[in-house]
Amino acid sequence: MFNYLDNLKRPVYNWYPYKEGFSWRLIDRCISLASQYIDIHSIGDPFVGSGTTLLRAKELNIKSYGVDISPFAYLLSYTKTRNWNFSEQDIQEVQELNIEDIDGEVEIFFELFPLSRAFSKSNYKMLKKLRYWVETKTELHLLALIRAAMEVSYIYKDGGVIRIRKRNTPSLESIFKKHLIRMMNERIVGILPEVEMKSAFEFDRSVDIIITSPPYLNNIDYTKIYGVELALTTLRRDYSTIRGRMMSSFIRKDVDSDSILPIKTKYLEESFELFRRFRDLLHGGILFYNVSNSIINGIYYEIDVELMRLMEEAGFREVKIVDSIVRKTNINGKLYRARESLIMARS
Ligand SMILES: C[S@@+](CC[C@H](N)C(=O)[O-])C[C@H]1O[C@@H](n2cnc3c(N)ncnc32)[C@H](O)[C@@H]1O
Repeated sequence: MFNYLDNLKRPVYNWYPYKEGFSWRLIDRCISLASQYIDIHSIGDPFVGSGTTLLRAKELNIKSYGVDISPFAYLLSYTKTRNWNFSEQDIQEVQELNIEDIDGEVEIFFELFPLSRAFSKSNYKMLKKLRYWVETKTELHLLALIRAAMEVSYIYKDGGVIRIRKRNTPSLESIFKKHLIRMMNERIVGILPEVEMKSAFEFDRSVDIIITSPPYLNNIDYTKIYGVELALTTLRRDYSTIRGRMMSSFIRKDVDSDSILPIKTKYLEESFELFRRFRDLLHGGILFYNVSNSIINGIYYEIDVELMRLMEEAGFREVKIVDSIVRKTNINGKLYRARESLIMARS
């Protein structure tokens, strides 16, 4: 099937490498399947992530609406789908910005370790000043800074874990300006999507089709793997509130009191609640659900099959897998295979 690497080749789609994102081609595939049954005037995505669904809908001039509980995913999808209009003067301001002249800096809190460890001394100093400066600018300035910061950091994401590897890094200032100026010059025109920072369980818009990809069971804790991005977006001290509102796809030690909680049962219960909600909102429309199967303690679970059964129980009909691919995953040094499926369900 299609993955996020497709997006890296296209302007705006590639503003942030969001590995969990799906390809814009997947949206086209769903639209073409759905249009055999219905006319499509609106698309929804309750786990909007990096905003691919909304951006492609915008490009195709279709109304769209998306939500995500993560402030960083919200920043990302909101920023990528706005109609930015920067003047020559705005661009010049960036080109001529002198970091020495910024007369303030912010404190950045990161829950896993002092963030200073993830940058060279000079880049960390610049980051605190630039984060202060972008506060008075636009979301696009903030996103470009986060993109640049991650690029010059020592951080690398190893599956679900953040690791640090010291290396020679370029100056944050030049990378920031490079990304920001490029982003200020790129645009995708079309109907402006609506984005909100809230839970999929509060998704409340009637749409013709929903195209979405929820967190996969036992896959990653988004508040950890995107923890640095969240720290830079919110400047907050802790994310237990956000973590507590995320779909229960992994055990959250600081939120769930019982760490041997039957996570699969909870995941399926929450999925069922969502399907009932989506079915009510779709009024004859179609749900596309992109999900991967899971391996927990070495056991393979066909989550797609279980979810399809729940979709039927929630009132969907003609539930079927329309595309699938088997991906290899490395868990604690052992190689496993797991199917990823695109499920289609008519309401
Ligand atoms: C697999 S990603 C979606 C990727 C998206 N399809 C894309 O192209 O970027 C899942 C998203 O679900 C979000 N999420 C987790 N729990 C949520 C909840 N309860 N409500 C809304 N979004 C949630 C995460 O923040 C993450 O961005």
